[in-house]
Amino acid sequence: MEKIIDEKQQGNSLVMEPKKENGRKLFIESYGCQMNFSDSEIVASILSKEGFNTTQNLEEADLVLVNTCSIREKAEQTVRKRLEKYNAVKRINPEMKVGVLGCMAERLKSKFLEEEKIVDLVVGPDAYKDLPNLINEVDEGRDAVNVILSKEETYGDISPVRLQTNGVSAFVSITRGCDNMCTFCVVPFTRGRERSRDPQSIVEEVNDLATKGYKEITLLGQNVDSYLWYGGGLKKDFKDATPMQKATAVNFAGLLKLVAEAQPKMRIRFSTSNPQDMTMDVIEAMAKYNNICNYIHLPVQSGSDRVLKKMNRLHTREEYFELIDNIKKLIPDCGISHDIITGFPTETDEDHQDTLSLMEYVKYDFGFMFAYSERPGTMAERKFEDDVPEKIKKQRLTEIVNLQQKHSLYRTQQFIGKTVEVLIEKESKKSSEHWSGRNTQNTVVVFPKENYKVGDFVNVKIKDCTSATLIGEPVGPSEMN
Ligand code: 5AD
Ligand code: SF4
Repeated sequence: MEKIIDEKQQGNSLVMEPKKENGRKLFIESYGCQMNFSDSEIVASILSKEGFNTTQNLEEADLVLVNTCSIREKAEQTVRKRLEKYNAVKRINPEMKVGVLGCMAERLKSKFLEEEKIVDLVVGPDAYKDLPNLINEVDEGRDAVNVILSKEETYGDISPVRLQTNGVSAFVSITRGCDNMCTFCVVPFTRGRERSRDPQSIVEEVNDLATKGYKEITLLGQNVDSYLWYGGGLKKDFKDATPMQKATAVNFAGLLKLVAEAQPKMRIRFSTSNPQDMTMDVIEAMAKYNNICNYIHLPVQSGSDRVLKKMNRLHTREEYFELIDNIKKLIPDCGISHDIITGFPTETDEDHQDTLSLMEYVKYDFGFMFAYSERPGTMAERKFEDDVPEKIKKQRLTEIVNLQQKHSLYRTQQFIGKTVEVLIEKESKKSSEHWSGRNTQNTVVVFPKENYKVGDFVNVKIKDCTSATLIGEPVGPSEMN
């Protein structure tokens, strides 16, 4: 089955090394997007300096932090369920403090304290540096809230504590916020306006990861192609930058080049790309540097021009096809994945058919598919009625999931008989005698371990496949080692 993001499965706790002892134990877990997991590593770093010692055991925690997601209603329900669990633990350990971080904190602000009596601390995505002060407030018996969104904060100066790591792949955040204002999306409200991180601090973080033995990084942002460094400040204020700032500005293609050249033996990935912001120079940089992976996550949301417009996606179906054609022209074997929403307000069966035909054209390698979930405060919630019945949303979702599965199988079958380069990440879940890793297109590959180890780049000849996995035999180490 194609992977559909299930918020329930995304909770994960982290472990970290304390810098100084304060005798207190922190339990931190994350839900939602990769950015949240990456942010939790920043939070872990900030609190490790305060002497917090982490635990994976909720029952023994003095401080519990949950990094939350608001993207769909179900994501929020998952967090509410977790709060119930914390409540049960608090009955045994009444001194335990509970903090909510991330998008739900930003969306609900101090209302959270009223709605959920268990919560002591509410901290939005740009306020994590204030955590030590906020925790002091809580220690002194006051509830503490900081949900101020920033024009500057990128946490560029914080070296994340790598937790829960396989020691091979790491996330490096490069932009924060989103200016796109897709009408269905809560992110611009919870994560603020777009700003980019200093390329020098990005390259330093990547170099540091290389020194520690990491082999793959994923540059993260809500809209990475919109990356623009001109000395700090919001993307929208670039128009007011000085001529000097404009002349020396670094865009996403420029950043890719810097990172690819700084670490030619490291694989570089990025996520997420927005069709309207992805420029030819990015595709050219991907084609030029062989350590930049041939894979693009390129959400489309709908195949209908009418719906795209209503979603405020700033491109048409034709323009999306042109972009796909350009990608395939320069990088013929590029893997492409999507996000699609079914049942956006007013979506007709004809619109749905347009989505299916768009999928037929692209034949994505894989994708993430969701039924529309109305989010409070968004343009869609304010202007449009959520009028597609739940049953129809689900029916359409099943249809696109089934079609995607067919395309995924078509794509994996194309690899049979070919040799692909795989970075070994971990043991295969199904067999202790096999390694699991990914090829450049981001497809999972499993093969017999032989004498290889985690972190090796191996050439693997593909013999068989399912719709999600390639199965092969190693033929030798690759030149990336
Ligand atoms: N309902 C359903 N899916 C949504 N997404 C964003 N907002 C919503 C919503 N209100 C999906 C989009 C986006 C992905 C991260 O989540 O497909 O690309
Ligand atoms: Fe949300 Fe659109 Fe921004 Fe993505 S590009 S985070 S879907 S507003």
